[in-house]
Amino acid sequence: MADPTHDTALRVDSLGVSFQGVTALQGVSFSVPAGGVSAVIGPNGAGKTTLFNCISGVARHLGTVELEGRDLSRLHADRRAALGIARTFQTPLLIPELSALDNVLLGAHGRMKGGLLSSILRPPPVTRAERAMRARASELLKRLGLHHSQDHRVDSLPHGDRRRVEVARALIAEPRLLLLDEPAAGLGADEASELLADIEEFAAHTGMTCVLVEHDVGLVMRVSRHVVVLDAGRLLVAGPPAEVAADERVIAAYLGDDWSEVEV
Ligand SMILES: Nc1ncnc2c1ncn2[C@@H]1O[C@H](COP(=O)(O)OP(=O)(O)OP(=O)(O)O)[C@@H](O)[C@H]1O
Ligand SMILES: [Mg+2]
Repeated sequence: MADPTHDTALRVDSLGVSFQGVTALQGVSFSVPAGGVSAVIGPNGAGKTTLFNCISGVARHLGTVELEGRDLSRLHADRRAALGIARTFQTPLLIPELSALDNVLLGAHGRMKGGLLSSILRPPPVTRAERAMRARASELLKRLGLHHSQDHRVDSLPHGDRRRVEVARALIAEPRLLLLDEPAAGLGADEASELLADIEEFAAHTGMTCVLVEHDVGLVMRVSRHVVVLDAGRLLVAGPPAEVAADERVIAAYLGDDWSEVEV
């Protein structure tokens, strides 16, 4: 297992990805401190989702990815997940016909022996391990404010609740590193702040590290320990929010005049 006492959660070095000759990421290197919430920002097409695809092992890449000091670069996505990387997707990938609880349980399949999917699809009796995992899924939904909807089909839930189900599904794997790709997309400002506050609290409670992509720069600067700025597939700057906010290149290349409005 990765070393949980490490003070750097994630380190990437010289990451590069091309799609049919088009460079999506090039020479990207940075570290993220262990614990709490950090963020990746950048304009549309900057390479944020591609970066998450590299870290989680979904995309083939050049360069290295280290989780708590362990080199994962040569491992497939399922091994990286088993070693502690969980993620959500920019477009939620929930199974509409299943309940919120069963969707969360799908995130635990790597931790269950003997086919969790079949345990969702077949009637009781379930094993003791399955019961324990159901209780855990229920607890997570409760902590995210969804205990009243756990048995509802996800396609009947409001958009914000579906986002929370996705987060719960990633959390049930008890990740060391949680990657959230625009978890607050489509939410109102208050709902987005509440969701990020819940994620922050969860990270503080469990010691996991969360890295999120978020377009609301003000929100990012309020919740993040460390901010990584990508621009056109390259790292522009990475550092504490106040440092990033003061960086001339960030102001010029990405944030423009609106930046002066953001309090950090
Ligand atoms: N599978 C793919 N095939 C070809 N090009 C791709 C693929 N995935 C991403 N790209 C390209 O790589 C670049 C980075 O895309 P990416 O989706 O990582 O950006 P992003 O920062 O997440 O943008 P957004 O804010 O719109 O989500 C873009 O130019 C995109 O068109
Ligand atoms: Mg994206």
